[in-house]
Amino acid sequence: MIEPTKYIWMDGESIPWEKAKIHVLSHSLHYGGGVFEGIRCYQTAKGRVALFRPREHIKRLLYSASVLKMEVPYTHDELIDALTLTVQRNALKNGYIRPLIFYGYGKMGLLPTGAPLHVCIACWPWGSYLGEETIRLHISSYRRIHPQTTDIQAKICGHYTNSILAGLESAHHGYDEALLLDGEGNIAEGPGENVFMVRNGELFTPSTKTVLKGITRDTIMQLADEMNIPVHEQTITPDELKQADEVFLTGTAAEITPVRVIDKVSIGNENIGPVTHSLKSRFTGIINGEDILSTNWLYYV
Ligand SMILES: Cc1ncc(COP(=O)(O)O)c(C=O)c1O
Repeated sequence: MIEPTKYIWMDGESIPWEKAKIHVLSHSLHYGGGVFEGIRCYQTAKGRVALFRPREHIKRLLYSASVLKMEVPYTHDELIDALTLTVQRNALKNGYIRPLIFYGYGKMGLLPTGAPLHVCIACWPWGSYLGEETIRLHISSYRRIHPQTTDIQAKICGHYTNSILAGLESAHHGYDEALLLDGEGNIAEGPGENVFMVRNGELFTPSTKTVLKGITRDTIMQLADEMNIPVHEQTITPDELKQADEVFLTGTAAEITPVRVIDKVSIGNENIGPVTHSLKSRFTGIINGEDILSTNWLYYV
């Protein structure tokens, strides 16, 4: 269950958590036409709390909103201030922040034009999303949303029904998480995570033609570059992934989650491999504020 904090920022003001309510006829609730982000904050070794790459998340949020032609009445910087205020007012240390922009009550019919737009930011303590250890993946029978049917770079609420279906199916089969293929049957991504494989010490990940440009994905690619690990963005078949030396998922919620099994096939010796381990340790140093690269990515509140 979600652990409530005290305040939610809604349309410009902080209101008590339990008062942040909407009408059942809110437009986005019916048709999925809202947009959202997931951002983490960390208690760093400096004793201060920092948001991880909030500028990139807000930029993506505003991009998603523009895809749905939302006229957001707040600027990028005002939203960053609202994130900071929400984390501060709730005295959140290690947690998750959820900005959501949606069409509210006042209009029915598919086109949201004319419905009032609402912007809110909630946050709460949230530990590791997929557990602390290695996980088992199920290749979904559902294909990932296709770039020709929607804008896959927008985090639109309705897109996540595809993720929910894949997640329910993988849970039904007793797996920890799903992995979806693209329209051509190659590896795409998880329901809310990007995927990487390691082969002969090099990193491979699907290109953003078919997957979300994850901010954690980008962090890992920059880190790999720094650590002289070659990175290739290219097509990966399900067989190639199953034969990889190491596989891991990345995402704001999942952070870096090593994979030990895909559809009953063991990956490596089912332990965290050396490349995943070194990337994960470097990532931990960054979010703790101890790594030199933290200065680029941590935003102290
Ligand atoms: C479909 C999908 N892929 C990948 C990711 C990982 O992206 P990020 O690292 O920016 O959280 C997410 C999470 O936002 C997602 O929803």
